[in-house]
Amino acid sequence: MKDYKKLIDPAALPKHIAIIMDGNGRWARKKSLPRIEGHRKGADVVEPVVDAALAVGVKALSLYAFSTENWIRPDDEVSGLWTLLDIYFQMKLEKIAARGIRIKHSGSLDKIPTDTRLNILNAMDRTSKNSRLVLNFCLNYGGRQEIVNAVNRWLDSREGASPVQEADIGKNLYTSDLPDVDLMIRTSGEYRLSNFLLWQLAYAELVFLDVLWPDFRPHHLYKAIWMFQNRERRYGGI
Ligand code: FPP
Repeated sequence: MKDYKKLIDPAALPKHIAIIMDGNGRWARKKSLPRIEGHRKGADVVEPVVDAALAVGVKALSLYAFSTENWIRPDDEVSGLWTLLDIYFQMKLEKIAARGIRIKHSGSLDKIPTDTRLNILNAMDRTSKNSRLVLNFCLNYGGRQEIVNAVNRWLDSREGASPVQEADIGKNLYTSDLPDVDLMIRTSGEYRLSNFLLWQLAYAELVFLDVLWPDFRPHHLYKAIWMFQNRERRYGGI
């Protein structure tokens, strides 16, 4: 196996990496385990991947952990996912804070169970002064909902009646403090965006890896960054 970490050019890192952590259910099915075991294993993978991002100097990492569409899953899976997030925020918060990571949430806090909402807000507050890496948890997040929300925020804030500009939308998105995504990674061999960061992905390089999220390891992240660095980005030019 190539040592992709060594091949990464530290001067040309993606400013913002976004990951669709897909394949937990299939991982569990392959092992004849309940789906929640796939999510549990998937949650365990988050820490080493964040450490791998820190090790190469990535500054912003967005993780799609619960979409606005995921509510239609069976109740026990939905509540199991929130419990896993509670455990993560409670068990890992001090480690995260000590590593200089700032926790951020993108999505609507409405509907998120109260305990989890408080854990998210507490984690954001506890890490608010950190700046080494922004770890953006996309929870109860939908790309279309985010854009509608941004337009409504803009409508609320405007003084004149000038037409909306791209910047007006951008500065009202959940991610207004983050750069656009440079690199989007989706695991599990599915080739979809699934309503993830639709605006921010406009010029992202997309890397689809044939690995289920619970099997994702730091070398997969390094490989994706290396693939990104070997793409030619033209932004509509030639
Ligand atoms: C998609 O796989 C994954 C999710 C909907 C949830 C992602 C959540 C985690 C990785 C755990 C969250 C915890 C932390 C700490 C971030 P899927 O269930 O759709 O998989 P499938 O397509 O194989 O069924």
